[in-house]
Amino acid sequence: MIQSRDFLKQIITYKPGRPIEEVARELNLKGEIIKLASNENPLGASPLALRAIRKALKESYLYPDDNCYYFRKKLTERLRVEPENIFVGNGSVEILPLATLAYLDPEHSAIGSEGAFIWFKIAANIAAAELIEVPLRNYTHDLKAMLKAIKKNTRMIYIANPNNPTGTIATKEEVEEFFEQVPGDILVVMDEAYFEYIDDPHYPNSFKYFREGKNILILRTFSKIYGLAGVRLGYGIGSKEIIASLAKLRISFNVNRLSQIAGMAALDDDRHVHKGKAVNEAGKEYLYNAYKKLGLFYLPTYANFIFVDFARDSQIVFEALQREGIITRTIKEYGFPHALRITIGTEEQNRKLIRALKKVL
Ligand SMILES: Cc1ncc(COP(=O)(O)O)c(C=O)c1O
Repeated sequence: MIQSRDFLKQIITYKPGRPIEEVARELNLKGEIIKLASNENPLGASPLALRAIRKALKESYLYPDDNCYYFRKKLTERLRVEPENIFVGNGSVEILPLATLAYLDPEHSAIGSEGAFIWFKIAANIAAAELIEVPLRNYTHDLKAMLKAIKKNTRMIYIANPNNPTGTIATKEEVEEFFEQVPGDILVVMDEAYFEYIDDPHYPNSFKYFREGKNILILRTFSKIYGLAGVRLGYGIGSKEIIASLAKLRISFNVNRLSQIAGMAALDDDRHVHKGKAVNEAGKEYLYNAYKKLGLFYLPTYANFIFVDFARDSQIVFEALQREGIITRTIKEYGFPHALRITIGTEEQNRKLIRALKKVL
């Protein structure tokens, strides 16, 4: 029998939120199923993006522009960077293993947090490099401890800001202090998947560090506020050298034609972004209150999901909610056996969630 490489045994597999179709099939559920498991936009895709996709469908027989020229051009206008500072990915998550492969040999190490986005671990695994995991402090990245954990062979530090699954942030002051001290031979990957949801003045402006010439790769996505998770589109911002190193590793045409077109239209869809934010803010208020009344511990969030602790095996709550037609997300693999990560839905979805929780608890 043919043997795959030994190091594959070390690679953990990402467990995505369960698709609606799968849950409906398994539980034979007939009514509407609400998915609050993957932090998608409950309002759906940007209408402008959808219109652009419909228009472009007939060109599906043509290969996409491998350079994402127009998409990058549009981003340069938004972000005031050069096209050579932008790497476009098939979702932002694609960029994590590419960056890791570009900078880490197996004898190198990377640093992340325990209880942080699990793809950091997978990315380090793929490069067969060590991931040093530093405990969270107060459910958020302990940047000081991460700096202390640096070894001679450390070449990368992953920070999800806000963090998934806790929804917490490293503040402007913490990030400033961190960049003052981080050694110059380490690449800092700043994953900002939920960036567009945040107005808080304590949230750092990571572009400052990019402009100062620090070794930073900033990741953003169209999967969240723009509602294009199924289309797959994300990007990374970094120095020309960093972006060129990622480009060496990507497959040709990694970003399909419809994604590029949808992304450009979505960037113009301010209305959808505003609406998404407003629904998220209203949802936060409602859910915080409801969780409080139910006596549940939750973490105030900077993203579009809330970490809720049920003080019991979360699998039981997860399954009970699923029988009520609501899919949430267990986060045991992040070290939280009693908590669920629950996406903030529309007003109606949130009400249905709380009704179901009252019943199952
Ligand atoms: C921190 C973080 N980064 C990246 C992603 C994935 O984004 P994409 O869909 O762009 O691959 C997510 C999605 O849940 C996330 O929470």
